[in-house]
Amino acid sequence: MGAVRLTPLFVVSATVGAVIDVVTIALLAQAAVGLTAGVSKVELNGPLSFLRDTTPDTLVVVGLCLLAFRLIPFWIAAQVPARVSARVQERLRTRLAAAYLRAPYLDQMAFHDGHLQELASTETTQAALGSLIALQAVTSGVTLAVLVCGAIVLSPATALIVIGALAVLFFALRPLAKAVKRSAGGKAGASMRFMETLNEAANLAVDSRTYGVIDAEEALIDESIDEVHRPWYRVELMHGLVPGAYQTAGFAFVFVGLGVVGASGSASSFGNLGAVVLILLRALASSQQVQYAYGKVGEALPFVDRVYGDIERLEATHERRGNHPLSRIESLRVDDVSFVYPDGRRALKGIDLAIRSGESVAITGPSGAGKSTLAAVLLGLLPPTEGSFTVNGVPVVDVAPADWSRRLGYVPQEGRLLTGTVADNIRFLRKDISDDDVVRAARAAHLHEDVLRWPGGYDTVVSQRSEAVSGGQRQRICLARALVCHPDLLILDEPTSALDAEAEDVVASTLRALKGTVTMVIVSHKPRLTEICERVVHLRQGEVLSDSGAGAVTLPADLS
Ligand SMILES: Nc1ncnc2c1ncn2[C@@H]1O[C@H](COP(=O)(O)OP(=O)(O)OP(=O)(O)O)[C@@H](O)[C@H]1O
Ligand SMILES: [Mg+2]
Repeated sequence: MGAVRLTPLFVVSATVGAVIDVVTIALLAQAAVGLTAGVSKVELNGPLSFLRDTTPDTLVVVGLCLLAFRLIPFWIAAQVPARVSARVQERLRTRLAAAYLRAPYLDQMAFHDGHLQELASTETTQAALGSLIALQAVTSGVTLAVLVCGAIVLSPATALIVIGALAVLFFALRPLAKAVKRSAGGKAGASMRFMETLNEAANLAVDSRTYGVIDAEEALIDESIDEVHRPWYRVELMHGLVPGAYQTAGFAFVFVGLGVVGASGSASSFGNLGAVVLILLRALASSQQVQYAYGKVGEALPFVDRVYGDIERLEATHERRGNHPLSRIESLRVDDVSFVYPDGRRALKGIDLAIRSGESVAITGPSGAGKSTLAAVLLGLLPPTEGSFTVNGVPVVDVAPADWSRRLGYVPQEGRLLTGTVADNIRFLRKDISDDDVVRAARAAHLHEDVLRWPGGYDTVVSQRSEAVSGGQRQRICLARALVCHPDLLILDEPTSALDAEAEDVVASTLRALKGTVTMVIVSHKPRLTEICERVVHLRQGEVLSDSGAGAVTLPADLS
């Protein structure tokens, strides 16, 4: 990492910058005294004695040259914190995105709406700011050390006062820093809850309007804003108190230091005394920056803990990744499969199902019967809690994931669009799919005519929130997405729930045309679709109530 390579240079630059600061302060004090007294030559001792006998004007010029030169270490020292913090944010976001995308489906489901966004925005930004401030504090710390050394050269008694005073201040303010950290923990949690509430409100905007509960929704949001408000106020109040306390105590120590220097006579000249005062004030500012950074880094830590905690939790979830090749789906077997969600809800119980290649199976049953859960098991998204799911006799978890997904098409219950053109949505990031294939799939999904009516045709930009796309069109885009890769297995979860009878007819005719060439599992209550299937499996409370098998379809009497 470039920034790590730059670290020694960073510390050296900070040191050089601080040394220049001390020398400039000494020169400034001597020049000021020289100019005020109207002397032609100034007296300089110690390491600066080579400049003795120069005029105050020359000292001013030397000081200005030094300041110009100081820009170089200053520029280098500013580079590293900026680079490291940018890198911290980039790395955290990359790791978070990768960990989330590669985590098992169940772990992804555990992330509430807005949780991921909050981690990727506030938490990573706080971590980046924390690293920025910590590194800036290194510069302040180095400056402080050099100032103390400068003070030792000019007046050892003053140096002792500086070190003692800073130590006392630092320890006196530690309880405040701890309190900041505690309140920041509350701020992190509250800010996460606010983001989740706001996201939920955005998703439910239409419902809130319909039921006239905007006031109640607003009250919920206000409550979560208030939860952020309190720890925010506490943290910022404490941050505000620190500089005042620091400066008051600091000025008191400067007076004490001056008294000691005056009494001991350890500052050998009037100019030295001025330099000592300036060094004390400069040390006060640097140590204040270190103290500020201590508080700010403490404030960032709960955010850092949260984002690292979630990333590590996601990274620790291992999905078994098989490498068994799969060129074609010949048969699927679900043997005595049960599935229990992490909250303990049992969605499937003892399911047995053998599906032949080319067979079309309708899954029906009342709401909550476990149809979508079974579809997710068949997609390989949810590993059975008990029992096994095999393809061509091989457990699906042992099959190479790329081979498995190449053979699959899926139309979810609530199809989602990505922000991009209609063609992008059908292609869905699979770069090897040609434009001809996209149009063919759109025709098969009975979407082509609609797309031609849109102003940009296949280049029309759509997104999940775009109002120009109706629910039925969205569903057909998802159907085209499923058909475009010539799948062996097509799983459709209520594929016509958003379609009118006419559109449902065209989708039904598409599926009828595919019958026999593709293995189809259709979750639906619609007779138009279940009729297509040669077999109907009826679920109730997670169990198979009836399985018509091949041949005539008979639905249980209570199903229509
Ligand atoms: N993420 C989840 N966490 C916990 N329980 C869940 C989860 N998803 C579904 N369930 C539960 O599992 C059971 C089956 O749900 P599933 O979504 O499979 O039903 P469904 O038959 O598809 O219903 P619908 O017709 O309403 O879509 C339900 O009792 C449901 O509450
Ligand atoms: Mg469902």
